[in-house]
Parts: sequence; structure tokens; C-alpha cells
Amino acid sequence: MTNSARPCLKWAGGKTQLLDQIAARLPAELRAGKLARYVEPFVGSGAVFFFVAENFPTREYFLSDLNPELVLVYRVIRANVDALIAALTKIERKYFKLAPDAQKKFFYDTRAKFNATRAHLDCDNFQPEWIARAAQIIFLNRTCYNGLFRVNARGGFNVPFGSYKNPRICDAENLRAVARLLQRATIEQGDFAACARVVDRDTFVYFDPPYRPLSATASFTAYARAEFDDAAQRRLAEFYRALDARGAKLMLSNSDPKNVNPDDDFFEQLYAGFRITRVSAARMINSVASKRGAINELIVTNY
Ligand SMILES: C[S@@+](CC[C@H](N)C(=O)[O-])C[C@H]1O[C@@H](n2cnc3c(N)ncnc32)[C@H](O)[C@@H]1O
Repeated sequence: MTNSARPCLKWAGGKTQLLDQIAARLPAELRAGKLARYVEPFVGSGAVFFFVAENFPTREYFLSDLNPELVLVYRVIRANVDALIAALTKIERKYFKLAPDAQKKFFYDTRAKFNATRAHLDCDNFQPEWIARAAQIIFLNRTCYNGLFRVNARGGFNVPFGSYKNPRICDAENLRAVARLLQRATIEQGDFAACARVVDRDTFVYFDPPYRPLSATASFTAYARAEFDDAAQRRLAEFYRALDARGAKLMLSNSDPKNVNPDDDFFEQLYAGFRITRVSAARMINSVASKRGAINELIVTNY
């Protein structure tokens, strides 16, 4: 198994740590190259997509996400990875020449520029301005606190500076590997339900929706502006059933509410009749290091 193309953004809920568990549960037909299409409608940083695209001979990929900035980055990588690498290299050289205080200022200046240009951006039609923006997003993602991409209610990127010693800003080799895989992919911005038009019995769909918060105070749903609440989880479960009726192979992951409340049967009820497996993830849910530990995640498959 190779994994030479890796996620190029750090993303909340990234699946790198669960990859082995997910890989072991992929449908045999996908592994054998017997399915025509791979669909991932909550693609995020794409850890599972990269793994599948590197290792199995699927012909077509359909990737989408509600977050327009994420989709913009993928489209730029696919359309013009060399220009993106040039822009990022320029930023990287400039950044590493600066003293720590000036690096911090450079981060906040870039963040302000990024937020100021958002309103003028046409995310549907490729424009040369996208290249500079994708470079800004990758730079901010690599240098911000915790490497998250979080926007506030008005759509502004609001994560503070991360003070990392040597952040990897431009990983040219990986960006080229990602670009190679994306050539075969359709990449769209939008709600998960839009993928319905490409799903048939010759398709595998992997769903990785924003986690259902494990407690009232957990903030695992802070990905995009729209909250993914219990009503959204229910709508997704109905969608899962509709695609199951078409004969597609389906996998879905989520956090396990039983981690905090053993009586919580939310997902057992939503996905009654499907196979629910509990796997342990090295995800950290406690801010106190000594109390951190592996917690369970759910994997729901229809095979
Ligand atoms: C758990 S993350 C995906 C993590 C991803 N598997 C990875 O490895 O990084 C969930 C993603 O769902 C997206 N999202 C939120 N609501 C959505 C919706 N209604 N339709 C599609 N995507 C949505 C978020 O922007 C976020 O990227």
C-alpha cells in the first residue's frame, strides 16, 4: 500500500489517524478495481480519497464539500500546480527571512488581505486571482494556531497565529502528487445531497460529515458557517438509505455518542439495519493532556 499523496491542508476531523481502520473496511469490489466511481461529499483534507486513489484502480472520482475555500484550493492545484508552488515558494522565502515578531505581523497582514478579498471572489469560474488566494489559504493553514481553517459568522478566517518554529509551507512534491490524482476528479462546492446524480450501483460513497458533538461544550461542528445539527444528521441518514436502495456501496464515519453517554442510541436508530462497527481513534477530546485517550468512532457500512 502506498500513500505518496497526502492531505495538503490540516483539517478538523482529518482521517489520517483512522486510515488503517477505514482501509481494512473498504468494499472488496473497490479494492479489486471493480467499481467505476469513488464519491466523497464531505471531502475535507481528503485523507481517504488520496489513499484510495493511490492504491486502487478506480476510473472516476467525485469530490465535494460545502466549504468554498477548500474547493478553490483543490481546483487551483488541479489547474495550475506550478503557479501555486511558485506563489507559495515566494511566501515561504519571505516568511523565513523575517524575525519572529515580523513573522507574526506577516501572518496577520495575510489574514487581513485574505478576509478583505473574499467578497470579490467568483468561486465558480477559474480566475488567475485564485492562485494567490490558494497560496494564502495554505500559508494560513500551515502557520495558524492548531492548523485549523475556521471562519466566523461573517465568513472571516479568525484563527490566531501559531508560533511554529519551522512550518512546512510549500511541500512541492506532495502538491504535485495531489495534482496528479486530482486530474481524474470532479470537484464541486455544495451540499452533500448534490452527489446523488453520480451515484449508481457501480459507485462507492464515503461520508465523513462533521462530527456530532460529544458534549454540549465540544466544538467539533465549527467547520463551515452552517451548523451540522441533528436534523442534518437525520437528513444524511435518509440520503444514505436512498443511495443504498440504488445498490451503491456506502461507508459513513462519525463520533460515537456512547463515549460520553452509554445510553445514547442516536446512530443505532438512524442507521438501523446497517452494519455499525466501533473503532478506536487516537483523537483527543480532552484539553487536559493526562486525561486524553483513544475514543471510539463509528463506521457504518451497507455491506
Ligand atoms: C469531518 S470533516 C471531513 C474530514 C475529512 N474526511 C478529512 O479527512 O479531512 C467534514 C466536512 O464537511 C463539510 N460540510 C459541512 N456541512 C456540509 C454539508 N451540508 N454538505 C457537504 N459538506 C459539508 C465541512 O466543510 C468539512 O470539510
